[in-house]
Amino acid sequence: MSNAVVLLLSLIAIFRCFHSTNSHSQILFTSQQYRDSFISSPASCPAPNPNLYYRPVIGILSHPGDGASGRLNNATDISYIAASYVKFVEAAGARVVPLIFTEPTEKLLKKLELVNGVLFTGGWAKDGLYFETVKRIFKKALEKNDAGDHFPLYGVCLGFELITMIISEDNNILEEFSGKNQASSLQIVENANIEGSVFGRFPPDLLKKLSTECLVMQNHCFGISPAKLLDNPKLSSFFEILTTCNDEDDKVYVSTVRSRNYPVTGFQWHPEKNAFEWGSSKIPHTEDAIQITQHVANFLVSEARKSLNRPVSQELLDNLIYNYKPTYCGYAGKGFDEVYIFE
Ligand SMILES: *[C@@H]1O[C@H](CO)[C@@H](O)[C@H](O)[C@H]1NC(C)=O
Repeated sequence: MSNAVVLLLSLIAIFRCFHSTNSHSQILFTSQQYRDSFISSPASCPAPNPNLYYRPVIGILSHPGDGASGRLNNATDISYIAASYVKFVEAAGARVVPLIFTEPTEKLLKKLELVNGVLFTGGWAKDGLYFETVKRIFKKALEKNDAGDHFPLYGVCLGFELITMIISEDNNILEEFSGKNQASSLQIVENANIEGSVFGRFPPDLLKKLSTECLVMQNHCFGISPAKLLDNPKLSSFFEILTTCNDEDDKVYVSTVRSRNYPVTGFQWHPEKNAFEWGSSKIPHTEDAIQITQHVANFLVSEARKSLNRPVSQELLDNLIYNYKPTYCGYAGKGFDEVYIFE
């Protein structure tokens, strides 16, 4: 190659280099402008409702045992929360603080200051420290509402049964029903006050299907009949019946209640199972059934967003459920799929 050709090729290379640098910086400039166009248009994102709290936290009370009939842990001083309740809350846009029932009362009450609502799970324990703790937290939840906060409370299955015992002040108020491991419909009570209740934002077609299709999971052998609830002045002044169900022997029991004066909702059925539990072939998993889980979770969290409580950040992080690991136990083919165990 002659020197002249080498010189010419070098010049071309240098020119290309400059040219590409130029066009590159041009693109950079353009992309920066493009980015700026997003930053400088806050008007397209209106501020959310300042009266609502968009970082709500729900406390879930743990229940005695390992949640797996001893298959995971036989210790007597442990407690658990089925992960389905945690997922239920998380799916609706809230985080969970476990309220471990064996913790000292002072610690539990402090944890209540970190949450915007409480959920009592299903289970079997109806006495001892567990029942006393449920009582204490329930009383505190009502006090918070009386003091001007909006502090929702969900009682699921056993949780509802315990609230019934607490309000009636009658530990023998429950009746026996055949409601073990079965899907059922929900019969909405005539003239029920659906507006502003858990069913308030159900699409009309789903609300209709509730009474004709078996879309909810039951797993209980206790409950209360509408007659017994209505005959009890304490219960009938506190609760309004939203739905009833028929058990296997066609006996009618109360399946969903709302409080007349507090953001308290009771379920004899299991809204959390449809989307998150697989241990029984009876659990409905249709799209309608999953929507029920979602709507019921959305209602709890939408109520919690109305709470005025603003938990201290670091203390909250230290107590979130993320500090614990769930254990998979679904391989047993029964019971819960995952549980959080607290030793
Ligand atoms: C708990 O006890 C039962 C009955 O004795 C036993 O079958 C089971 O393996 C024990 N569980 C553990 C985790 O050791």
